[in-house]
Amino acid sequence: MSTTTILVPADGQHAATTLAVHTAGRGPLALLLHGYPLDHRMWLDVLRSPLAEQRTLVAIDLRGHGSSPAPGDAAHTMERFAADAIAVLDALGGGRADVVGLSMGGYVALALAAQFPQRVRSLVLANTRAAADGDAAKAGRDAAIRTVLEQGRGAIAQAMLGKLLAKDADAVLAARVRTMIESTPVETIVADLRGLRDRRDHTALLPRLSMPTLAIAGEHDPITPPADLQAIANGVPSGRCVVVPAAAHLVPMEQPAAFAQHVGAFWARS
Ligand code: MLT
Repeated sequence: MSTTTILVPADGQHAATTLAVHTAGRGPLALLLHGYPLDHRMWLDVLRSPLAEQRTLVAIDLRGHGSSPAPGDAAHTMERFAADAIAVLDALGGGRADVVGLSMGGYVALALAAQFPQRVRSLVLANTRAAADGDAAKAGRDAAIRTVLEQGRGAIAQAMLGKLLAKDADAVLAARVRTMIESTPVETIVADLRGLRDRRDHTALLPRLSMPTLAIAGEHDPITPPADLQAIANGVPSGRCVVVPAAAHLVPMEQPAAFAQHVGAFWARS
């Protein structure tokens, strides 16, 4: 795996910043977009999987995550993250990419497909949903903002771990996830939560998506249950859904071989 830094120019609302991208493999580009409040390390097993023989896998640290600095945005909108992904694609000289997003990364992938459909060769949407937050979910985001400001990142990790991983997850996996969450800056967590709370509803976009699309669910995911992924597959003309057993919200970390097998077969036929 090699790591490079990509410059994202300033626009009217955002200062210039840099993004760390972690690349492995060969062939056409595939962008890997991580979930909240994680970073590229959630893709480490995927980066060393057989998928690297089919695609050049590009795992982005979204702004403020992993090795990408936080440029001080009050909110991380899914549209800003999508524009950042396009800046990465431009810097790598790629016209189009296969896009793989998990959870928040899936919301970003949908924003990308909405704004830049000609840049998306195919979509893998894992452990995510098309719908926006309802009132209860929005209130939950506000409560999480108070929690991280008052009690710190450890409290967020504690609250999330039991939902991210299936019940019998091994201790090493749980420690990897906890370390990632606890290394994400508080200002990033707050900006993410505001962006998640206020994100657009993409349900009406689904019938207009013309690229091949695969939805991947975790059998025991309490955050985005299989019904949410099936709804995506039902909405997209070419959509298909697979449910991975013995996994919750982080299928690529919990069941990396099954994840790679489903994505590899999807890429091979699309
Ligand atoms: C994620 O994993 O990115 C989050 O759980 C997304 C969300 O809370 O909606």
